[in-house]
Amino acid sequence: MPSIPRRSFLEKTGALAAGAATFHIASGLRAQSPNEKFTVGIIGPGGMGSNHLRGLARLSEVNIAAVCDVDSNRLGIAVKNVELAGKPAPRAENDLRRVLDDKSIDVVFIATPDHWHTPAALLAIDAGKHVYVEKPASHNIREGRLLIEAARRNKRVVQVGTQSRSAPHLRAGMEKLAGGAIGDVLTTKVWNSQLRSNIGHAQSEPPPATLDFDLWLGPAPAVPYRSSLLHAKWRWFYAFGAGDMGNDGVHDIDIGVWGLLGDKPRHPSRIAALGGKYFFDDDQEFPDTQNVLFEYDLGGGKKKQLIYEQRLWSPYVQEGHENGDAYYGTSGYMVLGKAKSWQIFGKKNAPGEEMKGTIDLDAHHQNFFDCIRTGARPNADIEIHHYSACLCHLGNIATRLGRTLNFDPAAEKFIGDDEANKLVGREYRKGHWAVPKGV
Ligand SMILES: NC(=O)c1ccc[n+]([C@@H]2O[C@H](COP(=O)([O-])OP(=O)(O)OC[C@H]3O[C@@H](n4cnc5c(N)ncnc54)[C@H](O)[C@@H]3O)[C@@H](O)[C@H]2O)c1
Repeated sequence: MPSIPRRSFLEKTGALAAGAATFHIASGLRAQSPNEKFTVGIIGPGGMGSNHLRGLARLSEVNIAAVCDVDSNRLGIAVKNVELAGKPAPRAENDLRRVLDDKSIDVVFIATPDHWHTPAALLAIDAGKHVYVEKPASHNIREGRLLIEAARRNKRVVQVGTQSRSAPHLRAGMEKLAGGAIGDVLTTKVWNSQLRSNIGHAQSEPPPATLDFDLWLGPAPAVPYRSSLLHAKWRWFYAFGAGDMGNDGVHDIDIGVWGLLGDKPRHPSRIAALGGKYFFDDDQEFPDTQNVLFEYDLGGGKKKQLIYEQRLWSPYVQEGHENGDAYYGTSGYMVLGKAKSWQIFGKKNAPGEEMKGTIDLDAHHQNFFDCIRTGARPNADIEIHHYSACLCHLGNIATRLGRTLNFDPAAEKFIGDDEANKLVGREYRKGHWAVPKGV
């Protein structure tokens, strides 16, 4: 059994006077029995976190013991929403360490901005919690590896918020591809084609009184508050997000690589990219226009490609789907839009089998809880997700540097490129309590 930290986070990180903290001893590492209830903490009940909260509040097997947000307005709404769903009011906290210190909580949902995902998830896993963390689970390549190690070290279930992995029509579509329905899938094209908003230009100003901006920044380097950073807009900044490639793109990239490589995900070895801000004149740092090409070396001279296209200024859909995937095989192709359908076309474009369906967040939650009970790996296990999230990180690095990069999949480092290797990790706020160990 792995060792579990016995001193509380608040005590260890000096935020409470000695003796005032609760001591955390994690619950056992056994699988739960089918009738056991889950005591859950929700960290970051903002946009997506509220969706989780509503879904969890409907489950009789779930007791929402705590909600945690650094914005007191959002925290108040979260408490109210749990009560409106007919459940007892949860404890309201603004410091996630208090949730992790609660030994009655065995599961946490993390739906904070991306820069908090890995730091919060590592602390939670090491405290013995099972973790559902939103996508992309990592802010960078190094963090993703640390998460896998922590999950395996502590034998915790870590499900990532790529809920398409639990959609029956997509699982059926992937089985078709794996079964050879379009021959050998050599290339997959993923597109993210939609119309985003201009976030404007904002000046530094004092943060709203309802927001603990220092806690929001957490282990990221301190910057002054400005309204174009939050809420939700942080995803367009290098220090906090992963652009739309890691935001909406990661869902379709995840399904794209699933169909291309099946259940044996791996890293590509070459990445070429071009992109930039061709449309928006605002504070966003990530590109609104981006084309990335990944080449996989499968050994024995066998190669495959994944192509990612992003146009955030498109008031129209592509191939019938706003975002989607096209799998090109040696005897046919499949067009897939995750929220709608997939269809196969054969030789000379002859229409073949199709299947409709939608994505069901509840099914993904259920898969997570089932795996805690059985000890099985969840549908969007942290290791599967790592290879999809890294496509976003690799694509963003190649786009930022504007050159073809050679990547060593085993070492998770670029070959002969110091500048690119600096972007395998990130800068943290010196001495902050949430900076992951080993970065
Ligand atoms: N799976 C999906 O389909 C899906 C859809 C949308 C968003 N997301 C993901 O959900 C996450 C949140 O996105 P969003 O659009 O809801 O962002 P948001 O900015 O609206 O919400 C984030 C919330 O986290 C809170 N927060 C920040 N730091 C915190 C901390 N240290 N402790 C507690 N709370 C903290 C913020 O105050 C805010 O309420 C992102 O990772 C995003 O990628 C997933």
